[in-house]
Amino acid sequence: MNNKSPEVLLSEEEIQARVLELAAKISADYEDADDLVMVGVLKGSFIFLADLSRRLSIPRTIEFIAVSSYGNGSVSSGAVRLVMDVRGNIEGKHVLIVEDIVDTGHTLKYLIGMMKSHRPASVKTAALVRKAESAEVDVTIDYLGFDIGDEWVVGYGLDFAEQNRTLPYIGFIKPTDA
Ligand code: PRP
Repeated sequence: MNNKSPEVLLSEEEIQARVLELAAKISADYEDADDLVMVGVLKGSFIFLADLSRRLSIPRTIEFIAVSSYGNGSVSSGAVRLVMDVRGNIEGKHVLIVEDIVDTGHTLKYLIGMMKSHRPASVKTAALVRKAESAEVDVTIDYLGFDIGDEWVVGYGLDFAEQNRTLPYIGFIKPTDA
């Protein structure tokens, strides 16, 4: 890994403004719903989940789930493996799955099915970014931050080989720069 900073794709200000908009929409949509559970998908969603959840004006609880699909490579294998399930009981609750990025869509599709097997009251999805060109499966994102191109993006939770997750902005790198 060299010391070159990733180029800015989405600035900290753009991200924070969009997170605020999404939080307002989620707060309005779930105003009358009891038991909203935000399920963050580790590891990448941890910063988006933290910011989004703190900007909601409605009660919510937090769970985490861990899956593995990429390893340390840069190409999705399409195979999703459950590493850690939610700890609490989500039966009868309103589940909002929170992802940092949707690329091929395999992970989110798998997670929606997984969550439904717990018999929740509803399942919806939030993702900060989507690589629309990379979609291999049709999956609904109810609350989407940004559509982006096919760049390899890092920061705001996203990594390349575990590097750059804690950048406050989303940047892009060429794997040859990493
Ligand atoms: C990323 C991301 C999603 C998944 C999306 O996770 O956080 O979970 O890939 O890809 P897909 O739409 O092609 O399925 P990753 O496997 O990189 O793990 P991480 O969150 O721990 O970085």
